[in-house]
Amino acid sequence: MDLSTEYMGLKLKNPIIVSSSKLTGEINNIKKCVDVGAGAIVIKSLFEEQLIADSNALMDQDIKYFWFPEAIEHINKHSKEHGLKQVLNLIKSSKNYSDIPIIASINCISAHEWPQFAKTLEDAGADAIELNIAIFPFDKYMACADIADKYIEIIDKVKAHVNIPVSVKMGSYFTNLIQITNRLDEAGVDGLVLFNRYYRPDIDIETETIVRDNILSSPLEVTKSLRWIALLSPLLKCDLAAGTGIHDYSGVVKQLLAGASATQICSTLFNNGISYIDTILFDLQKWMEKHRYNSVSEFKGKVANKEGSSQKFERMQFLKKEI
Ligand SMILES: Cc1cc2nc3c(=O)[nH]c(=O)nc-3n(C[C@H](O)[C@H](O)[C@H](O)COP(=O)(O)O)c2cc1C
Repeated sequence: MDLSTEYMGLKLKNPIIVSSSKLTGEINNIKKCVDVGAGAIVIKSLFEEQLIADSNALMDQDIKYFWFPEAIEHINKHSKEHGLKQVLNLIKSSKNYSDIPIIASINCISAHEWPQFAKTLEDAGADAIELNIAIFPFDKYMACADIADKYIEIIDKVKAHVNIPVSVKMGSYFTNLIQITNRLDEAGVDGLVLFNRYYRPDIDIETETIVRDNILSSPLEVTKSLRWIALLSPLLKCDLAAGTGIHDYSGVVKQLLAGASATQICSTLFNNGISYIDTILFDLQKWMEKHRYNSVSEFKGKVANKEGSSQKFERMQFLKKEI
């Protein structure tokens, strides 16, 4: 049975990509993912905000840096280089261990130094770069188009520096998703990951404090990306990877039927352990056998391409008779 798929020009032996998280920031976990059959791995993101915060914290410890702007510059540079070095080592060790695609991930909120870093990641052996772009639009003077322009600026700059495929992992908080995804497609992005699941602060009503206890997704969350994968897969040139809420083989199958080229999983591995990849692959094959498919390509996009599917995925409101 052929589980292989192509994503951004990369040959994956199956559609299961382990998405970026602290799990993929550690070589032993990466080796385990490889051993149980992952199709590809996205390394833990190199965080622009984190690196800036690290260097700021360092500078806050010592007032003298305030008087020496060139020292600030040096520390900024040093702090970024340290974070980068760790990621470069992880890419190299992962590539030494296995020949499955290893995707580097950069979290960026601007187009400043990241294009250069992207080149370094390519040189270290990364097979592709995933840009985890997350701009929180908490500025009443910033127009929606300005935010979209930033995404395009980042893509243009990174694409100009590297030869490997580049994808954008994005959230769903856009006024017009079809417009931004088309703009990214036209800018030459090779893949889109729909969607990232961001940090969700909550309030504990007993302690009346802000808490963060919903770090992992639930399988019910799969339908948001399912809708957009189905709507966009027939329209975009770039490949789509589905993310958020894929907890077992059924989530994988749904996203493939919607037209995803690959599926990214994270929470289910925290819940069930890394070896669960093997179970998902086994169950996926069983489903394919039952439905008489010999390869993933035979059913990829099958539901999204059906007559009338688009209207069903576009529908927003419930009707009275459905309740
Ligand atoms: C603990 C944790 C750390 C994460 N770190 C990153 C990260 O560094 N970069 C990134 O792009 N996504 C990160 N994510 C998001 C996941 O890659 C994934 O997109 C999200 O959890 C939704 O997928 P899921 O429903 O399979 O969990 C993280 C998620 C978790 C739970």
